[in-house]
Amino acid sequence: MSEPMPNEPILTLANVEAAYGAVKAIRGVSLKVPKGAIVTVLGANGAGKTTILKTISGILDPQKGSIAFKGEAIERRDPADIVRRGISQAPEGREVFPLLSVRNNLMMGAYTRSDRDQVARDIELVESYFPILKERADQDAGLLSGGQQQMLSISRALMANPDLLLLDEPSLGLSPKLTQEIFAIVKRINRERGVTILLVEQNAALALATADIGYILELGRIVMEGPAAELAEKDDVKEFYLGQKDVGVRGQRRWKKKKMWR
Ligand SMILES: Nc1ncnc2c1ncn2[C@@H]1O[C@H](COP(=O)(O)OP(=O)(O)OP(=O)(O)O)[C@@H](O)[C@H]1O
Ligand SMILES: [Mg+2]
Repeated sequence: MSEPMPNEPILTLANVEAAYGAVKAIRGVSLKVPKGAIVTVLGANGAGKTTILKTISGILDPQKGSIAFKGEAIERRDPADIVRRGISQAPEGREVFPLLSVRNNLMMGAYTRSDRDQVARDIELVESYFPILKERADQDAGLLSGGQQQMLSISRALMANPDLLLLDEPSLGLSPKLTQEIFAIVKRINRERGVTILLVEQNAALALATADIGYILELGRIVMEGPAAELAEKDDVKEFYLGQKDVGVRGQRRWKKKKMWR
């Protein structure tokens, strides 16, 4: 029997380069995200994970390369346009609006939408994924715990009703138990709602267990890619990303330092 054809890509990056002034952050990144899949990009601190997401969501313009979403070029478009086309991002470090209520934070996620009845149903949906957001609906978001803010950040991104959800290190700063719960819900959102997900992570074990396809990013370049289950079995991935060894596929391990909240 032949392998089933993978779905066509909803997102394609080809040779994307981006920099902050003189600092080159990504150096010719190419990747494909099949429609309906969960794709993860793994990499150390400073590898360029957040930069990839910023170039997709229009926060940062790439210097070279192309980004196609649903077959149309989106590089150098403005972020609001990209949200309207169906991409939303839960940023690294949560970044909820601390002085707005939890409910109003969710409403902010729906700012590009005019389908008010469906917005109300989507509020119910995200509150069913994360019941604490309903219990605390009227409280200032700044009073939520870090993990609860992470739930709010993911939920706010979902309120844009995206076809593609970008998640920047949802495990950051969370207990292993809460991380597992959040990843389980990410998987449900993908399977039940058909939302395609691009997830960047340092937590390689859980990300590879959750994703269908993985890419490994070192110093701004993709150095390995494949089905997530196969990557998790590769010796150098096991040693470097799932284990303790000090040398990566390319060069020195650079992500031993535990990251703290800004
Ligand atoms: N605003 C900025 N100004 C200048 N350099 C930046 C800026 N943001 C990121 N960089 C640099 O770009 C490179 C890639 O950073 P990026 O934030 O994409 O890495 P990352 O993989 O998300 O890392 P982390 O796991 O620590 O979040 C790094 O060398 C970083 O120092
Ligand atoms: Mg980052």
